[in-house]
This record gives sequence, structure tokens and C-alpha cells, in this order.
Amino acid sequence: MTSASGFKATVLTLYPDMFPGHLGASLAGKALERGQWSIDAVQIRDFSEDKHRTVDDTPAGGGAGMVLKPDVLARAIDSLGEDDRPRLLMSPRGKPLTQEKVRELAAKDGVVIVCGRFEGVDQRVIDARLLEEVSIGDYVLSGGEPAALTLLDAVVRILPGVMGNALSGTHESFENGLLEHPQYTRPQVFEGREIPPVLTSGNHGAIEKWRLEQALRLTARRRPDLLPKDD
Ligand code: ADE
Repeated sequence: MTSASGFKATVLTLYPDMFPGHLGASLAGKALERGQWSIDAVQIRDFSEDKHRTVDDTPAGGGAGMVLKPDVLARAIDSLGEDDRPRLLMSPRGKPLTQEKVRELAAKDGVVIVCGRFEGVDQRVIDARLLEEVSIGDYVLSGGEPAALTLLDAVVRILPGVMGNALSGTHESFENGLLEHPQYTRPQVFEGREIPPVLTSGNHGAIEKWRLEQALRLTARRRPDLLPKDD
């Protein structure tokens, strides 16, 4: 359960200046000021023990790029002490992030997130410290930091009290496993295009039915993978 002191995020990174980033603004920023959640960015380099503060080395077996050293990252993780929070590693190799996973994380006391850089992270520290690899999509970023910010954005916005009433009773994409129906607001006519008449009919049953049909149509067209299999 989320404790009274709020959701605690710790990010291990070579670029701590990237945090809290956009999460210091808007509703997440207000919630941060109110103490509803906290973020601590830990510099991995501080756990290097050589005079050059080395954090990476060439890949065993050869190849391009550099690999984050297991001993340095393990010390950074161990410096957090006894910690029951899930430990994630942002990586394009990870399991894709879903709204279901976001809800699961938001129900915890917090999260530890390791941001990868270079070509990767030594597999032995991933295994030894039980890091769960998470991807935000099938594309490659230059590092895990924007992915960590994206994951935290999705988690923080659903923490109790962060969005106020704005979340309650809404039909968000993925909440019912479907993409959200189209939305409209005034003016009634925009560049010759009208708001669908059912939405201004006042017939709530008809509105709900229309929204569900639209959500199903949109999902079938754009994301058929989200629809239940009929077998
Ligand atoms: N690091 C680089 N690319 C990434 C991705 N797609 N998801 C998570 N972390 C990443």
C-alpha cells in the first residue's frame, strides 16, 4: 500500500539533472510540493572507486559501444539499503509498459528505477539485483531517463489526490481495455463540421452507447491487438 508519506521514486542515473524534469511542473509538480510523492536522483558515478570515476567498459566478446559495469551499479543499488520497492531497469529489451503495470506500480510504496546508457548493462547485475526490464515502446532512446520520466508520469497522475476529481468517472484510453472515444466541445459548428447530434441530445443512454461503439470502432481500426480474442 502507498504509505502516508507518499510514493517514493528513486532513480539511478548518470544524468541526475534530468530529474524531476517535466514532473516538477503542472499537476505532478504540485503533488511533489505537497509531498504526495518524492523523487531522489542518485548519481551512479558516485559509486565508481577508481580515480577516473569510470562507470563503463568495452563489451566482452567485442562490438561497438560501452557496457555499464556491474560492480558500480550494484554498489549504487545497495546504497539504498533495505528496500522492498520493485526495481526496474528501463531498456528497449524490456516487457512493454501497460496501463495495467502502471496501476500495479502506483499501488506500491514507490519504485527504484535504473536508467541504462551506452550499449547496455552487464547481465550479471540485472540477475543479481533482480532488475525487471521495462520498455516504453519499440524504438531506441539514447538512454533510459526519458523512459523513466514517462513511466513516473503515468504512475504519479493516478496516485490518490494528484488529479483531484479530474480522473473519476472518466473513460480514459485503456481503462476498459479500449482506446477512448472521440471528444468534442463548443462551438457547435467548427469550419463546417458539427458535433455529432447524439452528444447534444441529452439522452445519456444513447450517448453511452455511441461512445462504446466509437471506442470499439477506433480500437478495431488502430489497435486490433487490444480487442478480446473470440475463441
Ligand atoms: N532505453 C532506450 N530505449 C528505451 C525504451 N524504448 N524503453 C525504455 N528504456 C529505453
